[in-house]
Amino acid sequence: MPSIYVEGKKRLTGKIKVQGSKNAVLPIIAASVLIDGKSVITNCPKINDVETSIKILEQLGAVCSFEDNCLIIDSTNINKSAVREDLMREMRSSSLFLGSVLGRMNEAVISSPGGCDLGPRPIDIHIRSMRSLGADISERNGYIFFSAKNGLKGTYTVLPFPSVGATENTIVASVLARGKTVIENCAKEPEIVELADFLNKAGARITGAGSDRIVIEGVKKLRSVTFAVGFDRIVAATYISAAAVTGGDVLLCDVDTSKMRSVISVFEEAGCNFSYEENAIRVRCRDRLNSLSTVKSHVYPGFPTDAGPTLISALSVAKGTSIFIESIFENRYDFACELRRMGADVKIDGRTAVILGRENLYGARCVATDLRGGAALVVAGLSACGTTIIDRTDHIKRGYQDIVGDLAAVSADIKEI
Ligand code: EPZ
Repeated sequence: MPSIYVEGKKRLTGKIKVQGSKNAVLPIIAASVLIDGKSVITNCPKINDVETSIKILEQLGAVCSFEDNCLIIDSTNINKSAVREDLMREMRSSSLFLGSVLGRMNEAVISSPGGCDLGPRPIDIHIRSMRSLGADISERNGYIFFSAKNGLKGTYTVLPFPSVGATENTIVASVLARGKTVIENCAKEPEIVELADFLNKAGARITGAGSDRIVIEGVKKLRSVTFAVGFDRIVAATYISAAAVTGGDVLLCDVDTSKMRSVISVFEEAGCNFSYEENAIRVRCRDRLNSLSTVKSHVYPGFPTDAGPTLISALSVAKGTSIFIESIFENRYDFACELRRMGADVKIDGRTAVILGRENLYGARCVATDLRGGAALVVAGLSACGTTIIDRTDHIKRGYQDIVGDLAAVSADIKEI
């Protein structure tokens, strides 16, 4: 697996086209299992999690082709209902196949999902929804068996927590169910809206996506569909952090500003200047960042948990002490020990990170611990004096199509070795 080599202190200038959204496309790919026909997904990012999703689709009996960011899935001949365990372990979001396989096959078998280590990431809310839709559920030998001999039946359910994945699975499982489903207290992330748009284009009847109450009228069948995936707001936030730590001036293209408000306001408070063009955001940061008294991650539209690690890297070289509180996942700070190797002063106490801004970080050899933690090390390397080498970049490739190419295009001294 190649490593990433970064020579820090290069000011980023220029423009980056932000890739398609990982967290929008993964549920859409899983939902394509419902379609007795073809799904053509454009602007699909070429990332490892998409490759893994394609392997799962093919294992279930679909035929896929993926070229130039266009993924074509023919799920006409889906004939299996068990997702292979090794593929489940490879990617946590493989649990997103539960709703579509159960909805299509009236049965599904999954094992406890793996994925990056953000603390225990159960799927109890997903299971609760499937039970509410009428599935019989049993567990043995590390597998969970779902069956609905006469098909799923519409229901009324209130999620105990606005889980993104559980909202997505519940929507998908309801699309072909008999009758109406109402989901209360659901996630409002933009990725939920994109999933609903994709399914409605294929003939589903979903209303309320983006609010905390979604209604799905069951339909008999879905038809072939073509859909363009929107931009990745977490990748955009990553590149804002990169511009911020290098005193840069970067234009992010193909973005929707309305989905970036909480990230923009945090970086404005830190001293960055933003201006807006057609589907583009320009971020300029002339001076050293200000520290931030307290930033807390929240469900959308709050500050996204996935943008926390790269923000912490930026705050590691800010003036003064900042506090970041992670309210979604138990364990989002594995990367902090690697950041300390670069001279960062980050103290972790449970879900709270206290960051004492340093004048400079110093290049070091470090290891990516997870997807967003790895991206945080890249951001730190861009700001550091000297050379940083980051190993285990497979974690980063799960969600970033070409972080090295994107940053090199705006004058970063970065390459794969
Ligand atoms: C999605 O994960 C994203 N992944 C995550 O992005 C993102 O961090 C997260 O939403 C929050 O926005 C994809 O969309 C593929 P959750 P998901 O269900 O669906 C608990 C990245 O870096 N929970 O909202 O897994 C869970 O333990 C990834 O791109 C239950 O307790 O997030 C966690 O603490 C990381 N039981 C919290 O809810 C359940 O049944 C948030 O989980 C489900 C979730």
